[in-house]
Amino acid sequence: MVERTCLAIVLAAGEGTRMRSVRAKVLHQIAGQTLLAHVLTAVQEAGGSMIAVVVGPDASAVSSEATRNVPDAEIFVQKTRQGTAHAVLAAADALERGTDDVLVIFGDTPLIRPQKLRHMREALAKGAAIAVLGFRPNDPTGYGRLVLEGSELVAIREELDATPAERAIDLCNGGLMAFAGKTAMTILNRIGNDNRKGEFYLTDAIAIARAMELKAVVIETEEDDVRGINTKAQLAETEAALQQRLRKAAMDAGVTLVAPETVFLAADTTFGRDVTVEPYVVFGPGVTVEDNAVIRSFSHLDHAHVGKGALVGPYARLRPGAKLGADVHIGNFVEVKESVIEDGAKANHLAYIGDARLGAGSNFGAGSIVCNYDGAAKHRTDIGKGAFIGSNSALVAPVTIGDGAYVATGSVITHTVPSDALAIARERQVIKEGGASRIRAIKAVVKTKRGAAE
Ligand code: UD1
Ligand code: CA
Repeated sequence: MVERTCLAIVLAAGEGTRMRSVRAKVLHQIAGQTLLAHVLTAVQEAGGSMIAVVVGPDASAVSSEATRNVPDAEIFVQKTRQGTAHAVLAAADALERGTDDVLVIFGDTPLIRPQKLRHMREALAKGAAIAVLGFRPNDPTGYGRLVLEGSELVAIREELDATPAERAIDLCNGGLMAFAGKTAMTILNRIGNDNRKGEFYLTDAIAIARAMELKAVVIETEEDDVRGINTKAQLAETEAALQQRLRKAAMDAGVTLVAPETVFLAADTTFGRDVTVEPYVVFGPGVTVEDNAVIRSFSHLDHAHVGKGALVGPYARLRPGAKLGADVHIGNFVEVKESVIEDGAKANHLAYIGDARLGAGSNFGAGSIVCNYDGAAKHRTDIGKGAFIGSNSALVAPVTIGDGAYVATGSVITHTVPSDALAIARERQVIKEGGASRIRAIKAVVKTKRGAAE
């Protein structure tokens, strides 16, 4: 089949007042991405080659999130909220340019799967003028009902306007629709606002198409696909549903999740083969994990890369720009930010590594840190291959430690340490023979005097 062109119109002019937030509804996040970003990804994967986003007035943050995700998305403003068909017609300029398929999607329906949108487009390719995504909710209250004659859809009735018999229908409108491009504008222009709400209902398109002797069909799907978000509680429920999908997809791809329900993934988390993730690990956005790596319990990763066979955690924190090579060990209570940890390097306990390079095979001792921030600016630390940083050292950046150099435990390093050099930067130890007994005698006297005074 020749690939049909497709315009996707994303309605993102929602009020979102029930979120009790200053942020627009579609800018709330699940699995590390905004609701809008999820929808935009889905329409692109479904072949939406032109994307129009309809926003409300004063929605510059929504517009910029749209173009950040899809640089050539066109933004249209719906100045007054007069219904879903009115919102679609805000993008009339894009519609009039002509396209085979038109997908209409709600910006607050982030779990829509691309294959469902593809099924709707396939129905158009087979001759339908409209395809509607239908579902059977546990509680149909509030949804438009799909009125069928045989397999053909004859009308969608909004609940407010439905007869008792129509209200008894359990097949409901998920809200997402696909229109054949050649008849879309004619149908949309005929939609009026003669209903209880006085809105231009997109759903009226069905009866109009029917009157034009055009065919409308229903594509049935699961409730999750059309889950709309209006409240923070629904946001959390949707997050939970998406996490289940992401965990299952990770396991289907071969990742071992020891306790999947405790692992939180981002929509873009990428795993290689035979990765193991222990219980209670959180993946923020932008994380890639290569083959055979193990992420141990209670670790938090965000915009980080984990190389082949690396061992991370328990209790590790990989912040943005942490890049671990193969077989790296990052152990408990170690934080890494904006740093390259080359192959085989180790930081096993209680350390901070920021704005640094840790050369291949080097060892960063327990309790050591880089002092990368001087209160005004960040500076870099460069540690050569095979270097050894003794425990509880402070490397004051900017500073360079050469290949194979050895920093003695407890050092405060402020100057370059050449390759293969030994740097000791701490007070020399002093021994006073018998000093312990003398100290104890003095303390005992103090104690007796205090006892007498009380
Ligand atoms: C809509 C459907 C209903 C379906 C339900 C599924 C219509 C008329 N009704 O009802 O059949 O069962 O979704 O959830 O389509 N929007 C605008 N501008 C407007 C009005 C709406 O951009 O003027 C956007 C909203 O932000 C939202 C979407 O369109 O993203 C749906 O609007 P909403 O008012 O929530 O429709 P429902 O009453 O839920
Ligand atoms: Ca709604």
